[in-house]
Amino acid sequence: VSSKNSYLKIPEALLHPRGVYSRLFMALILLLFFLPRSVRAESRHAGMEDAEAKACFTCHKELGQLSELGKGHPPFLDGECTACHELNGDTFTTVAEGNELCFGCHTEKEDAVKKKEHVHGAVAAGGCTGCHDPHGTQNKMNLLQPLPDLCFMCHSEMEDHVENAKVKHGAIQMKDSCANCHNPHASDHEHLLRKEPIMDLCLTCHNVERPTKSGSFVLNMEKFLQDNPQHHGPILLDGDCAACHNPHGSNNYRMLKRVYPSDRYTAFSVKKYALCFECHDEEPFLKKIAAGDVTGFRNGTKNLHYVHVHKKKGRRCTFCHDPHGSKGPKHIRTTTPFGKWNLPINFKITDTGGSCAPGCHVPRAYDRVKAVVNKH
Ligand code: HEC
Ligand code: HEC
Ligand code: HEC
Ligand code: HEC
Ligand code: HEC
Ligand code: HEC
Ligand code: HEC
Ligand code: HEC
Ligand code: HEC
Ligand code: HEC
Repeated sequence: VSSKNSYLKIPEALLHPRGVYSRLFMALILLLFFLPRSVRAESRHAGMEDAEAKACFTCHKELGQLSELGKGHPPFLDGECTACHELNGDTFTTVAEGNELCFGCHTEKEDAVKKKEHVHGAVAAGGCTGCHDPHGTQNKMNLLQPLPDLCFMCHSEMEDHVENAKVKHGAIQMKDSCANCHNPHASDHEHLLRKEPIMDLCLTCHNVERPTKSGSFVLNMEKFLQDNPQHHGPILLDGDCAACHNPHGSNNYRMLKRVYPSDRYTAFSVKKYALCFECHDEEPFLKKIAAGDVTGFRNGTKNLHYVHVHKKKGRRCTFCHDPHGSKGPKHIRTTTPFGKWNLPINFKITDTGGSCAPGCHVPRAYDRVKAVVNKH
C-alpha cells in the first residue's frame, strides 16, 4: 500500500502498532489489499476517464502540491493527465511505453536521438524518465537531480574521480557541468561529445584568458595556437587535447593524465616525465655520451639533453619546448617564463645543429658533425 496516496495514508502511530485498535486497523488494510483488483478499482479510478486533474489531486495530493507550485512539465501543469494516461480496467496506464510516450509530442527529440550514431545508454534503455520527471521537479528541465549529481546517480566511478581529483576542472563546476561537453541524449561523436575533434570542444571555453582558483590565469589557448602555428603532434594530427589532459580533473599538475613536474627546475628521473615518455623515447636523456643518432640535441657526441635535464637544477622539458605549439622547428619556445620575466631563447636551427642566445647564458651553439667549442 502506497503511503503516497493520502486516502490510504496510515497515521504514523498506527504504523507502529501497540494497541488492539492499531492491529485491527492493520488487518483492515490487509483485507483491502487482498480484495479482487476489480473491486478495488471501483473505489479508485472508476468512471474517471474524463475526470479533471483537480479530481485526481483529491487522492494524489503530492501531485496537487507540485501542480500548485507552477513549475513543472507543461502538459502536467495544464492538467492534461490523459495526454499520457488512459484508464485500463482499474488502472491508469500510460498511452505509450518508454521513450515512445515522450516522442509522441517531442518529435524533434525523436529525430535527434534516432538519427545519431551514438545514443546514451540511459536513453537506449528507454529511460527518458531515468533523468526527467514526467510531472515536474524544482530542477531545471524537470531533472531528477541537478547536474552533476544527475550523472553521478549512474556514473559513480566518475563521481569518485571528480571528487578526489586534486586539480579540478572549472568546466565541471560551471553552469551545465557535464553537459558542457557531453550531450545527455545522443551524439554523432564518440563518448557523446558535443564536438569533435576534442580540441574544438576545449576551445569553446579556452578562447579567453581564464582565472584559476589559485589566483593565476590560464592562457587564451585559441590565440596561442593561432600565434604558434607549428602544432605539437597530438594536436596537429588528432586535435586531441585529452591525449595529455584529463577533462574530468586529475592529481597531476595542470590536470595532466600522467606525471609531469610542476617545478621549472628538478633533478631528472624517468618517472617524473611519464607524460612525455608515454609517446617519446627516454633514451636521449639517460647517457652523457650520445651514442649514434639517439638525439639531435648534441654537440659532437656530448648529449645536450642530458646536460640540461640532469643535476639538482635540471630543467623540465617545457623550459625549452612548448607542449602545444611553436613558431619555429622542434617546438622550441620563443620565450621561457622566469619569475615575472619572459626570457627570450632565440633558438636557431641549422642542418647539423643549432644555437641559442637565451637570457640565462651567453650564446651557445652545437653541431652534431663537428663539435662547436663554445666560449665560457
Ligand atoms: C507527459 C506525460 C504525463 C503526464 C502529462 C502526466 N503523467 Fe502521470 N505519469 C507519467 C509517467 C511516465 C508515469 C510513470 C509510469 C510508470 O512508472 O510506468 C506517471 C505516473 C503517475 C502516477 C503514479 C506514480 C506517482 O508519481 O504517484 C500518478 C498518480 C500519476 N502519474 C498521475 C498523474 C496526474 C494526476 C496527471 C495530471 C495532472 C498526470 N499524471 C500527468 C506521465 C505523465
Ligand atoms: C479515489 C482516490 C483516487 C483518485 C481520485 C485518483 N486516484 Fe489514481 N490512484 C489511487 C490509488 C489508491 C492508486 C494506487 C496507488 C499505489 O498502488 O501505489 C492510484 C494509482 C494511480 C496511478 C498508477 C497506476 C495505477 O493505476 O496503479 C496513476 C497513473 C493514477 N493513479 C492516475 C490517476 C489520475 C490521472 C487520476 C485522475 C483522473 C487519478 N489517479 C485519480 C487513487 C486515486
Ligand atoms: C502531450 C505532449 C507531451 C508529452 C507526451 C511529453 N511532453 Fe515534454 N513538453 C511538452 C511541452 C508542450 C513542453 C513545453 C514546450 C517546450 O519547451 O518545447 C515540454 C517540455 C519538456 C521539457 C523541457 C522543460 C522545460 O522546462 O522547458 C522536457 C525536459 C520534457 N518536456 C521532457 C519530456 C519527457 C521526458 C517526456 C516523456 C516522459 C515528455 N516530455 C512527454 C509536451 C509533452
Ligand atoms: C542521462 C539523463 C537524461 C536522459 C536519459 C534524458 N535526458 Fe533530456 N535532458 C537531460 C539534461 C541534462 C538536459 C539539459 C541539458 C541540455 O540542454 O542538453 C535535458 C534536456 C531535455 C530537453 C530540453 C532541451 C532540449 O535538448 O531540447 C528535452 C525536451 C528533453 N531533455 C527530452 C528528453 C527525452 C524525450 C528523453 C528520452 C528520449 C530524454 N530527455 C532523456 C538529461 C537527460
Ligand atoms: C540512468 C542511468 C544514467 C544516468 C543518469 C546517466 N548515465 Fe551516462 N550512461 C549510462 C549507461 C547505461 C551508459 C552505457 C554504458 C556503457 O556503454 O558502458 C552510459 C554511458 C555514458 C557515456 C558514454 C561512455 C563511453 O565510453 O562512450 C557518457 C559520456 C555518459 N554516459 C555521460 C553521462 C552524463 C554526462 C550524464 C549526466 C547528464 C549521464 N551519463 C547520466 C547510464 C546513465
Ligand atoms: C565549459 C568551459 C570549459 C571547457 C569546455 C574546457 N575548459 Fe578547461 N578550464 C575551464 C575553466 C573555467 C578553467 C579555469 C578554472 C580552473 O582552474 O579549473 C579551466 C582550466 C583548465 C586547465 C588548467 C587547470 C589548472 O588549474 O591547472 C587546463 C589544463 C584545461 N582547462 C584544459 C582543458 C581541456 C584539455 C579541455 C577540453 C577537453 C577543456 N579545458 C575544456 C573551462 C573549460
Ligand atoms: C571539458 C569537457 C568535459 C566535461 C566538463 C566532462 N567530460 Fe566526460 N569526457 C570528456 C572527454 C573529452 C571524454 C573522452 C575520453 C578521454 O579521452 O578522456 C570524456 C569521457 C567521458 C566518459 C567515458 C569515458 C570514461 O572516462 O569513463 C564518461 C562516462 C564521462 N566522460 C562522464 C562525464 C561526467 C559524468 C561529467 C560531469 C561530472 C563529465 N564527463 C564532464 C570531456 C568532458
Ligand atoms: C603533449 C601533451 C599536451 C597536449 C596534447 C595538450 N597539452 Fe595543454 N599542457 C600540457 C602541459 C605539459 C602543460 C603545462 C605546461 C607548463 O606549465 O610548462 C599544459 C598546460 C595547459 C594549460 C595551462 C596553460 C597556462 O600555463 O596558462 C591549458 C589551458 C592547456 N594546457 C590546454 C590545452 C588544450 C586546450 C589543448 C588542446 C588544444 C592541450 N592543452 C593539449 C600538455 C599538453
Ligand atoms: C600522446 C603522444 C605524445 C605525448 C604525450 C607527447 N608527444 Fe611530443 N610528439 C608526439 C608526436 C605524434 C609528434 C610528431 C611526430 C614526430 O615528429 O615525432 C611529437 C613531436 C614532438 C617534438 C618535435 C620532434 C621533432 O623532431 O620535430 C618535440 C620536441 C616533442 N614532441 C616534445 C614533447 C614533450 C616535451 C612532451 C611532454 C611534455 C611530449 N612531446 C609529449 C606525440 C606526443
Ligand atoms: C635546454 C633546452 C631543452 C630541454 C630542457 C629539453 N629539450 Fe628537447 N630538444 C631541445 C633542442 C634544442 C632540440 C632540437 C635538436 C636538433 O634537432 O637540433 C630538442 C629536440 C627534442 C626532440 C626531438 C628528438 C631529438 O632528441 O632530437 C624531442 C622528442 C625532445 N627534444 C623531447 C624533450 C623532452 C621529453 C624533454 C624533457 C625530458 C626535453 N626535450 C628537454 C632542447 C631541449
